[in-house]
Amino acid sequence: MVNASNSVRFVSIIPAHVMAASYLLVTACLILSASYVNGLQTVNGRIKITTGTTAGCSDTVSFINNQLMPAYRLYGEFLDLEFVPWGRTIMNATGTFCQFGENDCWANRLHRCALNMLSGNQEAQLNYMHCEFSVPYPSFLQGSYYCAYSAGLRIVDLDYCVANPGDALDTGAQAAATVPMQIINFVPSITFNDVSDLDIHNQARQRLASLICFALAEDPSTGITSCSI
Ligand SMILES: *[C@@H]1O[C@H](CO)[C@@H](O)[C@H](O)[C@H]1NC(C)=O
Repeated sequence: MVNASNSVRFVSIIPAHVMAASYLLVTACLILSASYVNGLQTVNGRIKITTGTTAGCSDTVSFINNQLMPAYRLYGEFLDLEFVPWGRTIMNATGTFCQFGENDCWANRLHRCALNMLSGNQEAQLNYMHCEFSVPYPSFLQGSYYCAYSAGLRIVDLDYCVANPGDALDTGAQAAATVPMQIINFVPSITFNDVSDLDIHNQARQRLASLICFALAEDPSTGITSCSI
């Protein structure tokens, strides 16, 4: 059996009409599974990625560091990013309960406040989340506003937000997390163009940049013509 990841690292897709042949060739050579031809497509030349996160989650750490950051460096101009720091949080009459306890709840609330204050600047939002999900995990492990401070946020305003939960930042995140968690049932949940799909989510966790690239390459308006698997 040929090892897909070692044999062919590059597929050129130059004219659109050659594309199908390229897929066929690769499929025939490498015996890739059917999931290789992904269902992800651009919408008006862009791809929206919604990442459902929770502060204490190591899978979220690896997704942001190993998938989202590199993919954004390559294809950020085509991406619309959104973060939903809610995870498996349950908010009911008794209180708010988070997967990794009170620190998780506190840090998620901080993330919602900070992202809201950074709205309109997705690169700042991504850099902020990268900071929070990198050693020493300032909000979750240290209870610190370090990343927000680094992002240039006014800490007095941020602290007011963190101290006054229960507003639309919470109900909005809860609503936004509901369908992705039902369908994907994993944190981080990765949703594209507002449609949750478990198979595409799984691909995104392993090779987000490739997934994005092949979708961009299918859309001639993007000018993307070659993708590595
Ligand atoms: C609220 O959720 C928590 C965590 O799931 C649960 O233990 C508790 O019983 C719930 N309370 C109510 C009133 O539903």
